[in-house]
Amino acid sequence: MASEEAKEYVLPPEVLEETMRASEELWKPVRKIKFRIYKYNPKKDYAPHWEEHELEVSRGMTVLDALLIIKGEMDHSLGVRYSCRMGLCGSCAMMINGKQMLACQTRVLEAAGNGDVVELRPLDNFPVERDLAADFTSFFEKHKSVKPWIIRNDDIELNNPTGPYKQTVDEYARYYQFTDCIKCGACLSACPTAATDYEYLGPQALAQAYRYMVDTRDDGLDVRIPIVDTEHGCWRCHFAASCSDVCPRGVDPAQGIQLLKRLLIKRKFGYKPHKPAEALPAKVKAEKKE
Ligand code: SF4
Ligand code: SF4
Ligand code: FES
Repeated sequence: MASEEAKEYVLPPEVLEETMRASEELWKPVRKIKFRIYKYNPKKDYAPHWEEHELEVSRGMTVLDALLIIKGEMDHSLGVRYSCRMGLCGSCAMMINGKQMLACQTRVLEAAGNGDVVELRPLDNFPVERDLAADFTSFFEKHKSVKPWIIRNDDIELNNPTGPYKQTVDEYARYYQFTDCIKCGACLSACPTAATDYEYLGPQALAQAYRYMVDTRDDGLDVRIPIVDTEHGCWRCHFAASCSDVCPRGVDPAQGIQLLKRLLIKRKFGYKPHKPAEALPAKVKAEKKE
């Protein structure tokens, strides 16, 4: 039986051949591209400088693939941060030809367009850790400052859960898009307000504050209001939406901030977005299992 099931998944030889051919095409060198790379180690360099390396690139090669070849074969000292290589961890965001992008999700030829130079530098609005790696210390402090976790007044249920909290699909939809944030920093890097106010909480942290404030499982609305309703909080955002324009996950932090402003104004008139969700009683859970 097991071998019959396995047989169903064997690709027909012509499909296999076509797949191999397409893969070979994707990785065949097609063009020479010059990489202009920012180099700076604040611990020992007096000033930043640029270095150039030339590579034969293929249609499938990403900017991160190219950087790893350069690091492995041409400049072992190159500082570049990455982890998942599939657009999920947020580590490899950098300025690629002047725009905030994920190096692992951007093909070299797509970045080069009709030109033959790809310029790489660390994210704007961030201090430099080394070369292409930005220092995320302040970014993560801002994220943490908005308390990005579920706050409950009923600590007993939170710490000793008797069942999952009830939440409808519509309630989930209120904050769903913001859960896709991978904390890559692209939005903060593109934000003109963050460029002039280093203490501005920024699009990522403010959108996350909103995400938790409208989550029906959360009870922390009034705990977070004094954090976001400040001179460096949501009112500094002037809704240019450059943050949303560069988000590689399609999150719209600019929208989150405008919704947050609306929530703060409504709260001044006594509005509360929800009653804290109750836990599903253990009895209901048991019935559902049967
Ligand atoms: S909102 Fe988008 S751009 Fe900003 S940190 Fe999250 S994933 Fe990155
Ligand atoms: S919409 Fe607000 S947070 Fe986004 S880039 Fe503009 S000022 Fe910055
Ligand atoms: S390496 Fe994880 S997002 Fe690029």
